[in-house]
Amino acid sequence: MIISSCGNDVSEEEYKIGFSQAMTTDNWRREMNKAMRVESSMHPGLKLEIKDAGNHIAKQITQIDEFIKEEVDVLIVSPIQSIPITPAIEKAMNAGIPVIIIDRKIEGRNFTAYVGADNMEIGRNAAKYIISHSKGEAGIIEITGQEGSSPAYERSIGFKNTLDSVPGLKISHSIKGDWEKASIKDQLSTHLDSVEAPDYIFAHNDRMAMGAWEVARSKSLEDEISIIGVDGLFGPNGGIQMVKDGLLDATLLYPTGGAEAIKLAEELLRGESVNKYNILRTVVIDSVNVDIMQNQFDKLNQQQNDIEQQQAVIDEQIKTYNTQSDLIKLMLVLLGLLLLLSIWAIYLVVKIKKSKRKLEIKNQKIITQRNQIEDFAEKLKISNESKINFFTALSHEFKTPLTLITSSIESISDKSKSELKGISYETNLIINNSKRLLRLINELLDFRKLESGSFNIKPARTKISAFLENIVNDFRAEAVKRSIKLDFCSENKELEVYIDRDMVDKVFFNILSNAFKFTPKNGNIKVSIQEDNENVNIIFRDSGIGIPKEEFKRIFDPYKQGSNNVKPSSGLGLFISKQFVELHKGEISVSSHQGAEFRISFPKGKAHFKDVEILEIDADFQPSNFHQLSDPVVPQEEPINKDLDENAETVLIIEDNTDLSYVLKKKLSTEYHVYLSDGTDGIEKAFEIVPDVIICDLNLPGKTGFEICRELKNDLRTSHIPTIILTALDDKESRLKALKAGADTYITKPFNYEILRESLKSALYNREKLRYYYTNRIDEVRDENFENAEQNFLKDLNAIIDENLRDPDFSVEELAGKLNISRVQLYRKVKALLGVSISEYISTQRLNKARNLLQQSDMNISEIAYEVGYSSPGYFSTSFKNKFGISPKQLKS
Ligand code: FRU
Repeated sequence: MIISSCGNDVSEEEYKIGFSQAMTTDNWRREMNKAMRVESSMHPGLKLEIKDAGNHIAKQITQIDEFIKEEVDVLIVSPIQSIPITPAIEKAMNAGIPVIIIDRKIEGRNFTAYVGADNMEIGRNAAKYIISHSKGEAGIIEITGQEGSSPAYERSIGFKNTLDSVPGLKISHSIKGDWEKASIKDQLSTHLDSVEAPDYIFAHNDRMAMGAWEVARSKSLEDEISIIGVDGLFGPNGGIQMVKDGLLDATLLYPTGGAEAIKLAEELLRGESVNKYNILRTVVIDSVNVDIMQNQFDKLNQQQNDIEQQQAVIDEQIKTYNTQSDLIKLMLVLLGLLLLLSIWAIYLVVKIKKSKRKLEIKNQKIITQRNQIEDFAEKLKISNESKINFFTALSHEFKTPLTLITSSIESISDKSKSELKGISYETNLIINNSKRLLRLINELLDFRKLESGSFNIKPARTKISAFLENIVNDFRAEAVKRSIKLDFCSENKELEVYIDRDMVDKVFFNILSNAFKFTPKNGNIKVSIQEDNENVNIIFRDSGIGIPKEEFKRIFDPYKQGSNNVKPSSGLGLFISKQFVELHKGEISVSSHQGAEFRISFPKGKAHFKDVEILEIDADFQPSNFHQLSDPVVPQEEPINKDLDENAETVLIIEDNTDLSYVLKKKLSTEYHVYLSDGTDGIEKAFEIVPDVIICDLNLPGKTGFEICRELKNDLRTSHIPTIILTALDDKESRLKALKAGADTYITKPFNYEILRESLKSALYNREKLRYYYTNRIDEVRDENFENAEQNFLKDLNAIIDENLRDPDFSVEELAGKLNISRVQLYRKVKALLGVSISEYISTQRLNKARNLLQQSDMNISEIAYEVGYSSPGYFSTSFKNKFGISPKQLKS
């Protein structure tokens, strides 16, 4: 709307007039343009566009074309020359554009109207002037305008024709100009040098007349020659001024016709019919009338100026009007917008009120729900609290009976060995495990206390070196027993730190127990104390299996255990340690590089214990919980059953809990030869012993039970051995994993000994069945395409024996070598699978083949003996008879 209101001026321009001006180098042309502009400004509906051709014909043609394309309503042309411009004008006429020719003419009559003075008459008036001022005789020079332009031609004709009537008046010389004085000056000067000065010079315009005067004056002939010009322009340098100044004798008024052309155009646009030829009046201006003319022109000029001023005022008012009307429109638009915005604002207020009401309802609901949740949480908290309190109380309850058990058993074990009669092992076992349970319960209670935040720290000034060494020393015996090198190193024995000794004792004990738990035999554990400006650092470094980096943070989480910790544990120890260290404003961190390294830092001094009662006396520390290492009860003597049959089956137990493995060994030794492995050498022991049954735990140091089972089942030497898994893992996944690894039986702890015994028996019985099957179908085994590893083994075994049957020197060693196992392993494997020794098996194969040959071939006995690898036919016959109860000879006949 704003844009359209600003564009009102343009839309009011109803008509467009195009004017092709020949040139604008002289004042006459400028006057013409000015007159056109002034006139068109009087007609608000007209828009005038002037194009200046610059005296170039081609340019004028192009500009006319442009006006045609712009579809001007009227075209005004002042042609440079007649002939070349004519076709362009015809083109405009053909396009339906009315064309007004001004000043110079074109060829023919194909235009709408012509405006201009009668140039013939101008010529004639000039001649008449000379006639009336001369006495019938005078020399005359004519200076013509540009050739090819109609005024030059017509002025000349009019001039000549009129002069012709007076015989004494002759044009003695004619100079061709181009309307500008420069074009004639040289010619005139040369001419005047050669002839007598003329009486008159008639120049076709005032500019060339001025040139003629300048030449005459240069030759001091200005008073002798009378010069007549054309145009009669008003103003300085104009023809009128020149007449006034006596430079020219006369000038013939040649009106520009600018105003008249616009008036004509306006009439045409109004649809009025106009005259084709609109001839403007001309007049001679000479010394007689020059002042009157001057006055008239002054007045005219004055009027013109007034009109221009009024026009300017009108323009200004129109502008003001336009601006004001634009402003009013703008205000209207803004008012409209304001109205719309107000409506929108009202709508929004209503909407917000509505949604506010909705929100309030929602809020009320949420508050109610929150209150419900709070109530529920409170109830839950109370119920949880009571559960935990119950659990805590129960845990406390456990302590008393356990303590009673421990003390009673301790008093029993204090009795002399003879009195205990072989039960000292069991009593020790009960004591140690009761203590372990007690320790676990204590950890659980500490955890609970930490969770509820009810732990009060009681720091005491402590010589850390002595304090820690004391604890380390408690592990010395364990270190010696397990061939672990235990080092303690402290630079400053006097170094003091404020610690709650009870708590820190538990922390150090826990970290050291862990180090022992994960450090293998012959490993080492180093404990050192270092200090820096702010802290006392205690470092525990072991050469155990280490901890993967991603688990550094996790191991302090009470609900998670390290992946390397395959041993069952409460998982609370490290969490409690961390909490205790943090209660001291200290830090605990772990790193791992060939083993684990725990670093505990305590801040020096006591400034960090605010509002806490501090004990300043460095008294000896008596730990409230004596250090009970989970000491396995290793008996003095291995239980060996001397009455056991040499041929009794062998059992290998792979179990890291020495107590359990010992108890099992003790019980199973009545029926089996029992071998033990703590898990670190389970596979090696199985290869070495090739037992009849393996009992294997799953959580073991080093390889897991799954891995051990899989490896044994995939090895030719041990693949046939039934494996019983004995584990604390009671979940479906572990069961499945064990079966996939090739386990035959899966028993979970705590287990019933009788069930284990029966499982062992049935495993052996199954193997017996298999053996029966193999021995009785051994020949089928030879041919059939068996999948089973044992059957494959038998197939390979039979094939090798077959190949070497003729060789009397073919030995068990050779056979074992070909099967890639040791002689003992081969012996044990064959014995296990077939129930006979390998050499027995080879001879049976020889004799079976001999029997077949005896029955089915024509070979004689000696030949058969050699064929089945006997070097002596006599020995063959004896062996044959021993085996089949019939001699080869008898069988043959
Ligand atoms: C101006 C002019 C006038 C002359 C007219 C003839 O350009 O030279 O002096 O009278 O043209 O067309």
